[in-house]
Amino acid sequence: VSVSRPLRPTATLVPQCVLEFAQFLLKNGSAAGIPKLVERFSKFSPSPLSMKQFIDFGSANACEKTSFVFLRQEFPVRLANIMKEIDFLPDKLLSTPSLKLLTSWYSQSLLELVDFLEKDPSDREVLTSFTQTLVNIRNRHNNVVPTMAQGVVEYKEAFGVDPVTNQNVQYFLDRFYMSRISTRMLMNQHSHSCHPLIFDGSVNPAHPKHIGSIDPTCDVVEVVKDAYETSKMLCEQYYLTSPEMEITEVNSKSPGQPLHIVYVPSHLYHMLFELFKNAMRATVETHETSLTLPPIKVRVALGAEDLTIKMSDRGGGVPLRKIERLFSYMYSTAPSPVHADNSRNAPLAGFGYGLPISRLYAKYFQGDLQLYSMEGYGTSAVIYLKALSSESVERLPVFNKSALRHYQSSIEADDWCMPSKEPRKLGNSE
Ligand SMILES: Nc1ncnc2c1ncn2[C@@H]1O[C@H](COP(=O)(O)OP(=O)(O)OP(=O)(O)O)[C@@H](O)[C@H]1O
Ligand SMILES: [Mg+2]
Repeated sequence: VSVSRPLRPTATLVPQCVLEFAQFLLKNGSAAGIPKLVERFSKFSPSPLSMKQFIDFGSANACEKTSFVFLRQEFPVRLANIMKEIDFLPDKLLSTPSLKLLTSWYSQSLLELVDFLEKDPSDREVLTSFTQTLVNIRNRHNNVVPTMAQGVVEYKEAFGVDPVTNQNVQYFLDRFYMSRISTRMLMNQHSHSCHPLIFDGSVNPAHPKHIGSIDPTCDVVEVVKDAYETSKMLCEQYYLTSPEMEITEVNSKSPGQPLHIVYVPSHLYHMLFELFKNAMRATVETHETSLTLPPIKVRVALGAEDLTIKMSDRGGGVPLRKIERLFSYMYSTAPSPVHADNSRNAPLAGFGYGLPISRLYAKYFQGDLQLYSMEGYGTSAVIYLKALSSESVERLPVFNKSALRHYQSSIEADDWCMPSKEPRKLGNSE
């Protein structure tokens, strides 16, 4: 079992691939045309799909051709919109080897996709080669998160963090990772409309009712239990103990019935697994000296609009002042990669991206993830999802004037009075 998510690229990865990037630029005459392509496609806004549309695209009578025609336009649009924003990152971040590598992946994928614009959708070979291209793109972009994280770490170590950079990077990364969640979703769903043998995962034998990655009757409590069990196993491996879980369900729509929603189980699992790891670590570490561990309490409620999951631990909590920082990519509490390996908390805590990425998954289909903490006692994490599939629509970044304004914001005076110093630490008697 891999204990922490592979969020760190190997040290040798970057230089070698940067070399490849240079070769790619040399070989590919059309690389010079990339800014033009980005310009052209970023003029379009991405088209958010609803859960229903995803299901229609992926259902048995949907055709691969329709999906292809949509995707060969939509995919470049989503890529180009986010590529426009990459340009607004601080130069010092853009010039890191990690970022150079990462932008080369985006350029290469955009080039490969636009190649299909003129092709004939009724040609079987075109469809097959499009699917193959998607497989290649998916693989090429596998390491986007650790590579980007590596770039941020390099920047942080060289130049430190200031509030303006933190704000810009936060704004950008939320959008960047959201865009990536969405394009991976598109690729998965397209694969479902294809020939089963071409694309792995197109028909999932364990879950024949799933449509691509969507489960039309996702049993929320079952996913909660799965995520709990995996996290419990990791927790026991490391701490030799783990808290119990108490779960309560409330189905206000049809009392007594299981809680089902149309959702992507892997996204839900991801969020819950991250929350359980955090809750378990906090619980075990604050009760190190006691004989019993307070259980983690999970409550799942289905209403007319929301499906809400609340996970409460008694792990000592976090002061309010620090809550926002827990979602920050730059102020993440995670140690730098050099020290990560001998970190005491390695198995249950990694790069510090658990919360921010989980919140993106929740927001992707118009939900949210929030933390409420009582310092000295414990924390409740709440996942909000849309109960109705008609309201589960992708939430996508679009590059426009308002986005631009975010990147151009300079240091302005706060419009609230500021205390002259950082709050004094308890016990600091100066
Ligand atoms: N339930 C909780 N109780 C107390 N502190 C918490 C809780 N959840 C999160 N935290 C604090 O928030 C920090 C950030 O959490 P996050 O899950 O984003 O990253 P991480 O756990 O450090 O690393 P990973 O990327 O593996 O999740 C944690 O390191 C921890 O200090
Ligand atoms: Mg975590």
